[in-house]
Amino acid sequence: MNLEARIKHATAIDSRPMYVRLADELCELLDTGQLKAGDRLPSVRRLVAQKRVSASTAVAALRVLEHRGFAVAKPQAGYFAKPRRINADEPATTRPPPAPHAVGIDRITIQLIDSGQNPLIASLGTAVPDPDLFPLHRLQKALSMLARRNPRLLGEYNSHYYGVESLRHELLRRYADLGCNVPPDEVVVTNGCTEALNLALRCVTQAGDTVALESPVFYGVLQVLQNLGLKALEIPTHPREGLRIDALDDALKRPAGRKVKACLVTANFSNPTGGCLTDVDKAALVRLCAQRGIPLIEDDIYGDLQHSGPRPLLAKAFDTSGNVILCSSFGKTLAPGARIGWLCGGRFAQALRLRKFASSGPTAAILQELVAELLRSGGYERHLVKLRHTYARQVGEVAAAVSRYFPRGTRMTQPRGGFVIWVELPRGLDSTALFESAIRQRVNFAPGPLFSATGRYRNFLRLSCGRRMTPELDAAVARLGRLAVRMAG
Ligand SMILES: Cc1ncc(COP(=O)(O)O)c(C=O)c1O
Repeated sequence: MNLEARIKHATAIDSRPMYVRLADELCELLDTGQLKAGDRLPSVRRLVAQKRVSASTAVAALRVLEHRGFAVAKPQAGYFAKPRRINADEPATTRPPPAPHAVGIDRITIQLIDSGQNPLIASLGTAVPDPDLFPLHRLQKALSMLARRNPRLLGEYNSHYYGVESLRHELLRRYADLGCNVPPDEVVVTNGCTEALNLALRCVTQAGDTVALESPVFYGVLQVLQNLGLKALEIPTHPREGLRIDALDDALKRPAGRKVKACLVTANFSNPTGGCLTDVDKAALVRLCAQRGIPLIEDDIYGDLQHSGPRPLLAKAFDTSGNVILCSSFGKTLAPGARIGWLCGGRFAQALRLRKFASSGPTAAILQELVAELLRSGGYERHLVKLRHTYARQVGEVAAAVSRYFPRGTRMTQPRGGFVIWVELPRGLDSTALFESAIRQRVNFAPGPLFSATGRYRNFLRLSCGRRMTPELDAAVARLGRLAVRMAG
């Protein structure tokens, strides 16, 4: 299938319920400015007549818009549009240095993780969602049912060290729905996405090798590189459209680029920017890596978390040679505590299975069965519909608070998926110094230099929007904003 046919085929597969599709259509009107803040949204009666949907579908769609924070209901008057996007500039495309660099863990990472555990500190730091965003009751019921029906799951060593049949089957079914046909023996279930990334990197690199990455990049990935003795080659990245493929191409042609042994990319809703590659760029990335014989490791941990519209395609969907190793987990979507991740290893699948055995043996079978049960019953998809609305609203609320409290000249990304925002403070402001003061004022965030192997992004920070917006959290953003204003002052 050629590229156009692939994209068409994959985008034709749309599993969104009717009311979500209608809500997405209305969002589109807001995005394109056809509906402005304060405008009245079409009434239920009009939607029924124009869109040929039932009244309950129309009501559900309007409620979704309200839940996402894009509309407000006024008694007796209907629904009115709220500003869809904050009126703030976004940061520019990044310009990291063209040479690979060794990675060193920052003391601040430890401080950041420790402060995230402290209930007295308002957490905007680690990308950890509120536990009550997950279907805990449903998970609890399914887990006790599994333990009751099949206690051997607890008593036996799991002989499928690469993953239980039921979960691998459900994962492949979902990927097939996304136009991505993965053979069953490519899947390896892991302990979170972190183990999947570790295995993938260990499989295709050796200590001293260089890995090409987006810049800025999730600090956890940099730490994995450091543990494995790998160097990072940071590639320019657009705040909305992700890794610049032309810049990667240029970098790979240079002498330093010839030492690149893997390329690791979060194509959908990158952490920290939320940037998302277009389908054409995904296809170009896959082609470029395959032509150069460089394995592409795709981290898709946020791929299920679009705020509106259909789920974005995977780069893996364009892979015809098995050169892409896809890594992901349910850490941001379903059950962070279960630590269930996986990889689809492409042409490296056999080697990856053996490495998984040596890395940590099998992953807990009962937790794999638990997740498989939620996928099988449709509970996961239903939960995702709600979770996406919640993340969309929370991102909007934190962005609005930043625009209220932060110094003039602050820029930020406005991601269309995931739940982190990348904020650029006015030049000269030091986010590491800000971090020290902020901790004293009981609020945390992730300082910019954590997201670079070369200590860049001193005047940037990442805010996590995983926690519910409460008056206390709003007050915490206000304290942070005041500190930044004072430092800027
Ligand atoms: C981009 C990215 N990859 C991987 C991980 C780690 O995932 P897990 O918790 O499943 O190991 C995270 C967690 O924040 C992440 O943001």
